[in-house]
Amino acid sequence: MIEIIGPLVHPVDARTADHHGSKPAPLQKQLIERLQQAILAGRLPAGSLLPSSRLLAAEMGVSRNTVVIAYEHLAAVGYVIAGKQGTRVSPLSTPSARGEPSAQSALPEVAYAARVAQFAATRTQADNTFPLTPGTPALDRFPLGAWRRALERSMERALPLALGYGTPAGEPALRDAIAAHLRMARGVRCDGAQVVITEGAQEALNLCVRLFTNPGDVAWVEDPGYRGAKAAFHLGDLRTLPMPVDAEGLAAPTHAWRAHPPKLIYTSPAHQYPTGAVLSVARRLELIAQARRCGAWLIEDDYDGEFRHTGEPIASMQGLVDDAPVLYVGSFSKTMFPALRIGFIVLPRAIAAHTAVALQEMLRGGHRLEQLALAHFIDSGEFGRHLGRMRRLYRERQQALRDALAVHFEPAQILGGNCGMHLTLRLPPQVDDRTLVQRALAEGLNPRALSGFALHPHAQANGLVIGYGNTPAEQLAPAVDTLAALARELQRKRKRGAQAA
Ligand SMILES: Cc1ncc(COP(=O)(O)O)c(C=O)c1O
Repeated sequence: MIEIIGPLVHPVDARTADHHGSKPAPLQKQLIERLQQAILAGRLPAGSLLPSSRLLAAEMGVSRNTVVIAYEHLAAVGYVIAGKQGTRVSPLSTPSARGEPSAQSALPEVAYAARVAQFAATRTQADNTFPLTPGTPALDRFPLGAWRRALERSMERALPLALGYGTPAGEPALRDAIAAHLRMARGVRCDGAQVVITEGAQEALNLCVRLFTNPGDVAWVEDPGYRGAKAAFHLGDLRTLPMPVDAEGLAAPTHAWRAHPPKLIYTSPAHQYPTGAVLSVARRLELIAQARRCGAWLIEDDYDGEFRHTGEPIASMQGLVDDAPVLYVGSFSKTMFPALRIGFIVLPRAIAAHTAVALQEMLRGGHRLEQLALAHFIDSGEFGRHLGRMRRLYRERQQALRDALAVHFEPAQILGGNCGMHLTLRLPPQVDDRTLVQRALAEGLNPRALSGFALHPHAQANGLVIGYGNTPAEQLAPAVDTLAALARELQRKRKRGAQAA
């Protein structure tokens, strides 16, 4: 038997046997593992009779009791069958255990769900803290001390009760705090009972799909637009229809309402992502009227509406008229920090009570200490002060980025900037945005390709989405100089290629 399973490592031999200095496993555990491996590899084929416990104990140099317990364990898990004539190996279904040659390590064909194929690999796997990354706020300016105090306060006051499940729609204190903030800062018509806390905006979008659509329903998305919305629609097996975007935001052609009536419409009215257009009031009212007429829901993603840099804040679309068919979605990923993973939906008042029943089954609450800390952070005014500081900081950084871009590019190429933490730069067709992004990444810069936000490639969607939220002002000019040099190089290469052809 020792030829089949190999000798065991006894504690006294351990120093010579193990070069890594780690302690060997107890003899009983070693014996069980060796026997299991030999059975699975087919070295002990199905039906073979194992030696008696007395014989094996003598051969392996262990106590009989060690073997008896090892055999009992193997029998309990089904590797062997103990009978009157002794202990035999069970018939197992692995090819090697049946004595068949093992199929070389070729991976089996994996039958993924059809929707998985729709997730094209457009995102570069760069570190999200690289300069020019869009969507990352100023991480080093977050008031960690105040946040730590808020967390400690919620631990002192809410433990151990807050270790339990909690309310599926989220901590009532946070829902009330969010509602009060949104009424004042974003003109949203709501109270805490309409607010559902989610795992960031992404789960909020997924929830909109689950609550209001069936597979095959039509969903409109802005094109170019937010990949997260497209992903949520794909997951719900919806038919996703791209809608053009112009200087006034989402520009749905009138005929589309009859030709492809939607169930859901995704829009980012305060600051279209990624072009930065603000949805005009005329379009907002038209969208609300048409959505009401055809029974559609408008998803208003207000992801960076808090950071308005020019003129008065633009109030939400949700608050424009009474009972608008709007699902208002928000996130603390930009206003606090992305790893917090707290977002929310504000449901229309008329349906909040109805949906509560389904949400009771669909959600489990959780992250209660963070939610309570965030409620206190908002109520105590800390959140408002942080937003004020970040608005000033982002305004300065945006100006620095604009100045740097103006050295190399035409003003008409630069889009957005009324809100948020990024500017979008349109590029001429000779400069392929994906190639430029690859080259920039090699220089440690992480802007995104505008074409990656388009549902279908088109000439207008060629450019860079350039974040300034987490990039200090003094780093922006050198970074833009690098981008411009790379763009010129690509343009020259293209020209040389065209001349040679
Ligand atoms: C348009 C848009 N909406 C929402 C979000 C926030 O998503 P989450 O809360 O899931 O981090 C982002 C983040 O990049 C975004 O760009």
